[in-house]
Amino acid sequence: MITIIGSGKVGGDAALFSALKKLDDEILLLDVVKGLPQGEAMDLNHMLSEQGIDVNIRGSNDYSDMRGSKVVVVVAGSGRKPGMTRMDLLKINAGIVKDVVENIKKYADDSIIVPVTNPLDPIVHITYKTSGFDRSRVIGMGNMLDLSRFIQFIHEATGHSRDSIRALVIGEHGESMLPLPRFSTVSGIPLSSILSNEKLDQLVQDTRQVAAKVIELKGATVHAPGNAISAIVEAILKDRKRVIPVATPLDGEYGQSNVSIGVPAVIGRKGVEKIIELDLNQQEKEWFNKGVDGVKAALAGI
Ligand code: LAC
Repeated sequence: MITIIGSGKVGGDAALFSALKKLDDEILLLDVVKGLPQGEAMDLNHMLSEQGIDVNIRGSNDYSDMRGSKVVVVVAGSGRKPGMTRMDLLKINAGIVKDVVENIKKYADDSIIVPVTNPLDPIVHITYKTSGFDRSRVIGMGNMLDLSRFIQFIHEATGHSRDSIRALVIGEHGESMLPLPRFSTVSGIPLSSILSNEKLDQLVQDTRQVAAKVIELKGATVHAPGNAISAIVEAILKDRKRVIPVATPLDGEYGQSNVSIGVPAVIGRKGVEKIIELDLNQQEKEWFNKGVDGVKAALAGI
Protein backbone atom coordinates (compact mmCIF):
# COMPACT_ATOMS: atom_id res chain seq x y z
CA MET A 1 0.00 0.00 0.00
CA ILE A 2 1.05 3.59 -0.69
CA THR A 3 0.06 6.12 1.97
CA ILE A 4 -0.04 9.83 1.16
CA ILE A 5 -0.29 12.08 4.21
CA GLY A 6 -1.72 15.43 3.14
CA SER A 7 -4.74 15.25 0.81
CA GLY A 8 -4.58 18.70 -0.70
CA LYS A 9 -3.88 19.41 -4.38
CA VAL A 10 -0.37 17.89 -4.47
CA GLY A 11 -1.31 14.84 -2.39
CA GLY A 12 -4.37 14.24 -4.57
CA ASP A 13 -2.29 14.60 -7.73
CA ALA A 14 0.34 12.20 -6.38
CA ALA A 15 -2.45 9.66 -5.78
CA LEU A 16 -3.81 10.26 -9.28
CA PHE A 17 -0.47 9.71 -11.03
CA SER A 18 0.39 6.71 -8.82
CA ALA A 19 -2.99 5.11 -9.57
CA LEU A 20 -2.78 5.73 -13.32
CA LYS A 21 0.71 4.15 -13.27
CA LYS A 22 -0.77 1.23 -11.25
CA LEU A 23 2.06 1.47 -8.71
CA ASP A 24 0.11 -0.48 -6.07
CA ASP A 25 -3.33 -2.06 -5.63
CA GLU A 26 -4.10 0.24 -2.71
CA ILE A 27 -3.53 3.91 -2.03
CA LEU A 28 -4.47 5.56 1.27
CA LEU A 29 -5.02 9.30 1.47
CA LEU A 30 -4.70 10.68 5.01
CA ASP A 31 -5.45 14.17 6.30
CA VAL A 32 -6.45 15.90 9.53
CA VAL A 33 -9.28 17.72 7.71
CA LYS A 34 -12.47 15.68 8.15
CA GLY A 35 -13.96 14.63 4.84
CA LEU A 36 -11.17 15.90 2.59
CA PRO A 37 -9.32 12.59 2.04
CA GLN A 38 -12.59 10.70 1.82
CA GLY A 39 -13.96 13.04 -0.84
CA GLU A 40 -10.69 13.04 -2.77
CA ALA A 41 -10.63 9.22 -2.71
CA MET A 42 -14.19 8.99 -3.99
CA ASP A 43 -13.49 11.44 -6.83
CA LEU A 44 -10.35 9.53 -7.84
CA ASN A 45 -12.10 6.15 -7.65
CA HIS A 46 -14.79 7.46 -9.99
CA MET A 47 -12.08 8.47 -12.48
CA LEU A 48 -10.41 5.05 -12.16
CA SER A 49 -13.74 3.30 -12.74
CA GLU A 50 -14.12 4.88 -16.17
CA GLN A 51 -10.48 3.97 -16.90
CA GLY A 52 -11.12 0.36 -15.82
CA ILE A 53 -8.19 0.55 -13.40
CA ASP A 54 -8.65 -1.60 -10.26
CA VAL A 55 -6.49 0.45 -7.91
CA ASN A 56 -8.50 1.13 -4.76
CA ILE A 57 -8.07 4.54 -3.14
CA ARG A 58 -9.23 5.08 0.44
CA GLY A 59 -9.51 8.29 2.45
CA SER A 60 -9.08 8.45 6.21
CA ASN A 61 -8.43 10.76 9.15
CA ASP A 62 -7.02 7.90 11.25
CA TYR A 63 -3.24 7.42 11.20
CA SER A 64 -3.63 3.78 12.29
CA ASP A 65 -5.02 3.00 8.83
CA MET A 66 -1.51 3.32 7.38
CA ARG A 67 -0.49 -0.06 8.84
CA GLY A 68 1.12 -2.17 6.12
CA SER A 69 2.31 0.79 4.02
CA LYS A 70 5.41 0.11 1.93
CA VAL A 71 5.83 3.81 1.10
CA VAL A 72 4.57 6.85 3.04
CA VAL A 73 4.60 10.18 1.20
CA VAL A 74 4.52 13.25 3.49
CA VAL A 75 2.97 16.32 1.86
CA ALA A 76 1.32 17.61 5.06
CA GLY A 77 1.85 21.26 6.00
CA SER A 78 1.49 24.69 4.45
CA GLY A 79 2.55 25.57 0.93
CA ARG A 80 4.22 28.88 0.16
CA LYS A 81 2.25 31.92 -0.88
CA PRO A 82 3.39 34.38 -3.55
CA GLY A 83 6.53 36.21 -2.40
CA MET A 84 7.51 33.58 0.20
CA THR A 85 10.62 31.40 0.00
CA ARG A 86 10.38 27.70 0.83
CA MET A 87 12.55 28.33 3.92
CA ASP A 88 9.89 30.75 5.25
CA LEU A 89 7.72 27.67 5.92
CA LEU A 90 10.12 25.94 8.30
CA LYS A 91 8.69 27.12 11.63
CA ILE A 92 5.12 26.28 10.55
CA ASN A 93 5.87 22.91 9.00
CA ALA A 94 8.58 21.46 11.27
CA GLY A 95 6.10 20.75 14.07
CA ILE A 96 3.48 19.33 11.71
CA VAL A 97 6.00 16.95 10.13
CA LYS A 98 7.40 15.81 13.50
CA ASP A 99 3.91 14.79 14.59
CA VAL A 100 3.28 13.01 11.28
CA VAL A 101 6.58 11.14 11.49
CA GLU A 102 5.88 10.04 15.10
CA ASN A 103 2.73 8.39 13.73
CA ILE A 104 4.64 6.79 10.86
CA LYS A 105 7.03 5.31 13.46
CA LYS A 106 4.02 3.99 15.36
CA TYR A 107 2.00 2.52 12.50
CA ALA A 108 4.38 2.02 9.53
CA ASP A 109 7.84 1.56 11.02
CA ASP A 110 9.12 -0.61 8.17
CA SER A 111 8.04 1.78 5.42
CA ILE A 112 10.10 4.09 3.22
CA ILE A 113 9.28 7.75 3.86
CA VAL A 114 9.17 10.24 0.97
CA PRO A 115 9.06 13.78 2.44
CA VAL A 116 7.78 16.51 0.11
CA THR A 117 6.79 19.23 2.61
CA ASN A 118 8.83 22.42 2.32
CA PRO A 119 11.43 23.53 3.10
CA LEU A 120 12.29 20.12 1.73
CA ASP A 121 15.90 19.56 2.80
CA PRO A 122 15.52 20.56 6.48
CA ILE A 123 12.24 18.61 6.57
CA VAL A 124 14.02 15.51 5.25
CA HIS A 125 16.58 15.80 8.04
CA ILE A 126 13.87 16.32 10.67
CA THR A 127 12.11 13.24 9.28
CA TYR A 128 15.34 11.22 9.47
CA LYS A 129 16.08 12.28 13.05
CA THR A 130 12.49 11.89 14.28
CA SER A 131 11.90 8.52 12.64
CA GLY A 132 15.19 6.89 13.64
CA PHE A 133 14.96 5.05 10.31
CA ASP A 134 18.07 4.05 8.41
CA ARG A 135 18.92 6.98 6.13
CA SER A 136 18.30 4.80 3.05
CA ARG A 137 14.61 4.85 3.95
CA VAL A 138 14.23 8.66 3.90
CA ILE A 139 13.97 9.97 0.32
CA GLY A 140 13.02 13.61 -0.19
CA MET A 141 11.33 14.72 -3.42
CA GLY A 142 12.76 18.07 -4.50
CA ASN A 143 15.44 17.96 -7.21
CA MET A 144 13.31 15.48 -9.20
CA LEU A 145 10.87 18.35 -9.58
CA ASP A 146 13.64 20.85 -10.32
CA LEU A 147 15.05 18.69 -13.10
CA SER A 148 11.61 18.40 -14.73
CA ARG A 149 11.67 22.19 -15.03
CA PHE A 150 15.27 22.22 -16.26
CA ILE A 151 14.26 19.71 -18.98
CA GLN A 152 11.37 21.97 -20.02
CA PHE A 153 13.71 24.94 -20.42
CA ILE A 154 16.20 22.83 -22.41
CA HIS A 155 13.32 21.58 -24.58
CA GLU A 156 12.18 25.15 -25.22
CA ALA A 157 15.73 26.38 -25.95
CA THR A 158 16.69 23.52 -28.31
CA GLY A 159 13.36 22.40 -29.78
CA HIS A 160 14.47 18.80 -29.16
CA SER A 161 12.07 16.18 -27.78
CA ARG A 162 11.79 16.10 -24.00
CA ASP A 163 12.37 12.35 -24.37
CA SER A 164 15.89 12.98 -25.72
CA ILE A 165 16.89 15.17 -22.81
CA ARG A 166 18.67 13.85 -19.72
CA ALA A 167 19.18 16.61 -17.16
CA LEU A 168 20.48 16.75 -13.59
CA VAL A 169 19.78 19.10 -10.71
CA ILE A 170 21.26 18.52 -7.22
CA GLY A 171 21.69 20.48 -3.98
CA GLU A 172 19.14 22.45 -2.06
CA HIS A 173 15.54 22.39 -3.29
CA GLY A 174 15.56 26.13 -2.88
CA GLU A 175 17.33 29.36 -3.80
CA SER A 176 20.72 27.59 -4.02
CA MET A 177 19.62 24.63 -6.16
CA LEU A 178 22.26 23.44 -8.60
CA PRO A 179 21.15 22.62 -12.15
CA LEU A 180 24.15 20.94 -13.81
CA PRO A 181 24.51 21.63 -17.56
CA ARG A 182 27.86 19.75 -17.49
CA PHE A 183 25.99 16.59 -16.53
CA SER A 184 23.02 17.12 -18.86
CA THR A 185 22.73 15.98 -22.48
CA VAL A 186 20.47 15.66 -25.51
CA SER A 187 20.81 11.99 -26.52
CA GLY A 188 24.31 11.91 -25.03
CA ILE A 189 25.35 15.12 -26.77
CA PRO A 190 26.70 17.52 -24.09
CA LEU A 191 24.51 20.60 -23.66
CA SER A 192 27.63 22.75 -23.86
CA SER A 193 28.04 21.78 -27.53
CA ILE A 194 24.44 22.75 -28.31
CA LEU A 195 23.84 25.93 -26.30
CA SER A 196 26.12 28.88 -25.45
CA ASN A 197 27.40 29.38 -21.90
CA GLU A 198 25.26 32.53 -21.64
CA LYS A 199 22.14 30.57 -22.60
CA LEU A 200 23.00 27.76 -20.20
CA ASP A 201 23.46 30.26 -17.36
CA GLN A 202 20.03 31.69 -18.21
CA LEU A 203 18.40 28.23 -18.12
CA VAL A 204 19.97 27.60 -14.71
CA GLN A 205 18.54 30.85 -13.38
CA ASP A 206 15.16 30.16 -14.97
CA THR A 207 15.03 26.74 -13.28
CA ARG A 208 15.73 28.31 -9.88
CA GLN A 209 13.00 30.90 -10.27
CA VAL A 210 10.16 29.25 -12.16
CA ALA A 211 8.30 27.68 -9.21
CA ALA A 212 7.77 31.13 -7.69
CA LYS A 213 6.43 32.31 -11.06
CA VAL A 214 3.91 29.45 -11.21
CA ILE A 215 2.80 30.20 -7.64
CA GLU A 216 2.40 33.88 -8.53
CA LEU A 217 0.24 32.98 -11.56
CA LYS A 218 -1.90 30.06 -10.27
CA GLY A 219 -1.36 30.09 -6.49
CA ALA A 220 0.44 26.74 -6.16
CA THR A 221 2.47 24.15 -8.04
CA VAL A 222 0.53 20.91 -8.32
CA HIS A 223 0.97 18.63 -11.35
CA ALA A 224 4.76 18.69 -11.61
CA PRO A 225 5.21 17.88 -7.89
CA GLY A 226 2.46 15.24 -8.02
CA ASN A 227 4.13 13.55 -10.98
CA ALA A 228 7.63 13.77 -9.48
CA ILE A 229 6.38 12.09 -6.30
CA SER A 230 4.91 9.23 -8.34
CA ALA A 231 8.22 8.83 -10.23
CA ILE A 232 10.08 8.27 -6.94
CA VAL A 233 7.38 5.93 -5.60
CA GLU A 234 7.57 3.98 -8.89
CA ALA A 235 11.37 3.63 -8.67
CA ILE A 236 10.94 2.18 -5.15
CA LEU A 237 7.98 -0.13 -5.70
CA LYS A 238 9.11 -1.37 -9.13
CA ASP A 239 12.70 -1.75 -7.85
CA ARG A 240 13.84 0.20 -10.90
CA LYS A 241 17.42 1.01 -9.72
CA ARG A 242 16.75 4.38 -11.33
CA VAL A 243 19.47 7.04 -10.92
CA ILE A 244 17.67 10.18 -9.84
CA PRO A 245 18.43 13.14 -7.55
CA VAL A 246 16.78 12.89 -4.14
CA ALA A 247 17.26 14.65 -0.81
CA THR A 248 18.68 12.21 1.71
CA PRO A 249 20.96 12.36 4.79
CA LEU A 250 24.68 12.52 3.96
CA ASP A 251 27.36 10.70 5.95
CA GLY A 252 30.58 11.93 4.38
CA GLU A 253 29.43 12.02 0.78
CA TYR A 254 30.39 15.26 -1.00
CA GLY A 255 32.44 15.99 2.12
CA GLN A 256 29.29 16.62 4.13
CA SER A 257 27.62 14.98 7.16
CA ASN A 258 24.74 15.70 9.54
CA VAL A 259 22.70 17.27 6.77
CA SER A 260 20.13 16.19 4.18
CA ILE A 261 20.29 17.59 0.66
CA GLY A 262 19.77 16.57 -2.97
CA VAL A 263 22.27 14.14 -4.48
CA PRO A 264 22.15 11.63 -7.36
CA ALA A 265 21.23 8.19 -6.01
CA VAL A 266 20.23 4.71 -7.15
CA ILE A 267 16.61 4.22 -6.07
CA GLY A 268 15.09 0.75 -5.73
CA ARG A 269 13.07 -1.46 -3.42
CA LYS A 270 15.37 -0.75 -0.46
CA GLY A 271 15.15 3.02 -0.99
CA VAL A 272 18.47 4.84 -1.50
CA GLU A 273 20.66 1.94 -2.56
CA LYS A 274 23.73 4.00 -3.46
CA ILE A 275 24.65 7.68 -3.41
CA ILE A 276 26.61 8.69 -6.51
CA GLU A 277 29.42 11.24 -6.01
CA LEU A 278 30.00 13.54 -8.98
CA ASP A 279 33.34 15.16 -9.75
CA LEU A 280 32.08 18.73 -9.29
CA ASN A 281 34.19 21.68 -10.41
CA GLN A 282 34.98 24.54 -8.05
CA GLN A 283 31.95 26.67 -8.97
CA GLU A 284 29.59 23.71 -8.66
CA LYS A 285 31.08 22.77 -5.29
CA GLU A 286 30.57 26.34 -4.05
CA TRP A 287 26.89 26.32 -5.03
CA PHE A 288 26.38 22.86 -3.49
CA ASN A 289 28.06 23.87 -0.24
CA LYS A 290 26.11 27.14 -0.16
CA GLY A 291 22.95 25.06 -0.16
CA VAL A 292 24.33 22.79 2.57
CA ASP A 293 25.20 25.80 4.72
CA GLY A 294 21.67 27.18 4.30
CA VAL A 295 20.09 23.89 5.32
CA LYS A 296 22.40 23.53 8.35
CA ALA A 297 21.64 27.11 9.43
CA ALA A 298 17.91 26.46 9.13
CA LEU A 299 18.18 23.30 11.22
CA ALA A 300 20.24 25.09 13.86
CA GLY A 301 17.53 27.72 14.10
CA ILE A 302 14.75 25.38 15.21
C1 LAC B 1 7.92 23.48 -5.94
C2 LAC B 1 7.58 23.22 -4.51
C3 LAC B 1 6.88 21.90 -4.34
O1 LAC B 1 9.11 23.60 -6.25
O2 LAC B 1 8.73 23.30 -3.70
O3 LAC B 1 6.97 23.51 -6.75
